Amino acid sequence: MLSITQKNHYQAQGFLIINDFFSHMDCITLIDRAHTLINEFDDEGLRTIFSASNPYHERNRYFLESGEDIRFFFEENAFTSEGNLKKDKLLSINKIGHALHDLDPVFSEFSQQSTLYELCQDLCILEPLLLQSMYICKQPFIGGEVSCHQDSTYLFVEPHPVTGFWFALEDATLENGCLWAIPGGHHGLLKQRMVLDEVLGTRNVVYDPTPWDLEKMHPLPVKRGSLIVLHGLLPHMSKENKSSHSRHAYTLHLMSANDRYAADNWLQLATGKSFSAIRKP
Ligand code: FE2
Repeated sequence: MLSITQKNHYQAQGFLIINDFFSHMDCITLIDRAHTLINEFDDEGLRTIFSASNPYHERNRYFLESGEDIRFFFEENAFTSEGNLKKDKLLSINKIGHALHDLDPVFSEFSQQSTLYELCQDLCILEPLLLQSMYICKQPFIGGEVSCHQDSTYLFVEPHPVTGFWFALEDATLENGCLWAIPGGHHGLLKQRMVLDEVLGTRNVVYDPTPWDLEKMHPLPVKRGSLIVLHGLLPHMSKENKSSHSRHAYTLHLMSANDRYAADNWLQLATGKSFSAIRKP
C-alpha cells in the first residue's frame, strides 16, 4: 500500500499523511453515529471534563475504566460557573473513548477495514491489535488545547512503540486546531510515562524534565478523508479551536501482538480479556 518514498518519510519524520485514505461517505457515517451516541448519552452525574492541562480526569474512575466502554468527556469550557452546560450536549463533548472499535458496530466496521490491516503490514505492525479508539470533537470556540506529548507516555509498548492512526472526519486547519508535530522528533527518547497508581489513580514518571522546543513544531493541516500515522515517540499537539468550525477526528492506537504491553499502563482490560486483533482480510 505504501510507496518506498512514503515508508522512508515515515521512518525519517515519524508521521505520514495519506490523503483520501477513506471516503467522504465514511466521514458522514462516523459523524452521524457519534451524534447519535452523544444524544443517547444520559449525562446526569457523569460530567467528566477532559483537559490535557488539568488532568483531573486521570484520577477519575470514569476515565480509568473507560478502556472497555464507550464514555463521554466534556470540554473544560463547556460549563457555566454554576456547572450548567452553556450549549447543547452535541457542542459540549470533548471526546468519546475508548472502546468504540469493540463495542459500537459502526466504529467497529470502520476500524476493521482491510486497508488498515494492509497498512499495518507496510508499517511492520505484524498481527495488529487495537488498543483504544477515540472520537475527538474539538468543538467550535471551546475546543481545548492538547499540549505537546508522545503517545507512548500513555500507552507504553516494547520494543516497538505504539502507533497512532488519526482519521480526519472534517478538514483540520490552522484555525480549527489541526495537529502539529516536531518532524523527526521520534528519534528522541520518551520524556515521561503515565502509570497506574493505587492511591492516585495515575501518576507521571518523568525521565526528562526539559520542555519541548515548540519552535520546531510544524502544522499538519489535512482535508477530511485523510489519515495521519503517528509514531508513538513523535512529539505532537493541537492548539485550541477558537474558530466557528468543529474539527472532528477518529483515532486508533495499535501495537503488534508480538510486542509487550506494559502492565502499568492506565488502560487495562479485565483479567482474561485481550485486545482485539484487526482481522486478516
Ligand atoms: Fe496523541
